[in-house]
Amino acid sequence: MDRRQFAVRSLAAAAGVSLLRGGNAAAQSDAPASEPLPGLLADRPGAVPESVIRAARFPEGFLWGTATASYQNEGAWNEDGKGESIWDRFAHTPGKVRGGVTGDVACDQYHRYAQDIALARQMNMKSQRFSIAWPRIQPTGMGAPNRKGIDHYSRFVDTLLEAGIRPWCTMYHWDLPQALEDKGGWPNRELAQYFADYAGILAKHLGDRITVWAPFNMPWAIAFMGYAAGAFPPCRTSFTDFLKAAHTLALAQAEAHRAVKAASPRATFGSAYEMAPAYPKTDSEDDRAAAARYHAMNNVFFLEAAMKGRYPKAFVGEPPYEQMGFRAGDEKLLYAPLDWVGFHYYTRRIVSDASKEHFESGGKFSGTEIENNSPGGRDPYTRFRAAMPTEGPLTDAGLEVWPRGIYDLVTQISREYDHPIIEITESGCGYLDETDVETGRVPDGRRIAWYRETLAELSRAIQDGAKVRAYHAWTLIDNFQWAEGYTERYGLIYTDFRSQKRTVKDSGRWYAKVAASGLLTV
Ligand code: FCB
Repeated sequence: MDRRQFAVRSLAAAAGVSLLRGGNAAAQSDAPASEPLPGLLADRPGAVPESVIRAARFPEGFLWGTATASYQNEGAWNEDGKGESIWDRFAHTPGKVRGGVTGDVACDQYHRYAQDIALARQMNMKSQRFSIAWPRIQPTGMGAPNRKGIDHYSRFVDTLLEAGIRPWCTMYHWDLPQALEDKGGWPNRELAQYFADYAGILAKHLGDRITVWAPFNMPWAIAFMGYAAGAFPPCRTSFTDFLKAAHTLALAQAEAHRAVKAASPRATFGSAYEMAPAYPKTDSEDDRAAAARYHAMNNVFFLEAAMKGRYPKAFVGEPPYEQMGFRAGDEKLLYAPLDWVGFHYYTRRIVSDASKEHFESGGKFSGTEIENNSPGGRDPYTRFRAAMPTEGPLTDAGLEVWPRGIYDLVTQISREYDHPIIEITESGCGYLDETDVETGRVPDGRRIAWYRETLAELSRAIQDGAKVRAYHAWTLIDNFQWAEGYTERYGLIYTDFRSQKRTVKDSGRWYAKVAASGLLTV
């Protein structure tokens, strides 16, 4: 089943939703009590009981926030000296992005950031995860910084601080300068040094005000989706390039860590990994081993590299060091222990073994990271199949709703890495919201239900000892959703892409109350 089929099934499921009463309806302060919003079925597989939602508590000072990314929001793709990125090139290539749209304008946030930050402030946000577009700072990925690019982000950060919002910086959310792709892209080991130079520039110019840094959004996706699956730019389909890219990214993560700390004594350094809890398909030893390989490859590959200076057991047999371009002494370079661990939660995976099957051509991916069931396994090295189950309902963006997954993931990482400080860097759901023409509101009850249940499960993990200090909802405003263009809406704020008008959705108003009270029954 591909992503669109998922979406169709999920729309069908939505048509049958019952009305969720109680806390959800009560959250809509000006929603008439007689018209509760549609939520998610209370007795569906994976539903979280109301009692758990009522019991949810978050620690004093918990940082509520949202996450965004430069290419998805900023627009202004060729202003103020910005260079071309691989996403500019991809979106400008016919047939790549659904609907033939681009991020040339997106939410026009490059010009409208003050308004968007004011909305975040009204929503009681205390942390804003945003990314800096490398080609605004170094148009070709090398050399002296572009003053106008630095000035833009300097103003952006000042505006956040004035609003009482912590600036949280991702240095790279996928918009590689095209000039560096032309030099071989991430499989070229030299990019680790270019990236470290860039990271040092950011810390030097912004490190007096930004203290929370992460090098990469979703490094596994950068390597696999870009160089093996070919679904994201630069659209290569070589497993060797994927392995080399992964190794360069792990080296770059550590080099950037050193560069940032050297330039800014106040810096703390963490991550923004994608993670999905992996459940073995059966109880067989082979499937359990495959689920462990999935966890090692997709969840902790870069975390293990940073914390321990080695790669985890992600492969059948030894890591393919030679294909990766691993050199003697690299374990020392990889080591750069994180101050805190950041990761996303959207959904889960069911994993089975494919090590004894004939490997054919590799997993098939849709525009995002959703993997189809691939007969011979995903790749010749990890040899597992990872499917997203459809036991719970699907969002309109095609991801299974499985709130329990965040509990399992957060407690697993806490156990395995000796209870680190954790930040949830992204978490959210895509629904095709519409404005109600009569009231002007955006009644997105399913999104409220999604967050209530996911946050209730997160609270359980905290009560069981996980040191989670922040949660960033993906995302502040509807934006450009990569290869899916503008066909998926993840925002707490609705964006009318013709007029650029923003409307806080019902979920945004609800989240604002959660942020103010620390309770989910608002
Ligand atoms: C994540 C990406 C983010 C956004 C969400 C929906 O994989 O990090 O940019 O697109 O998915």
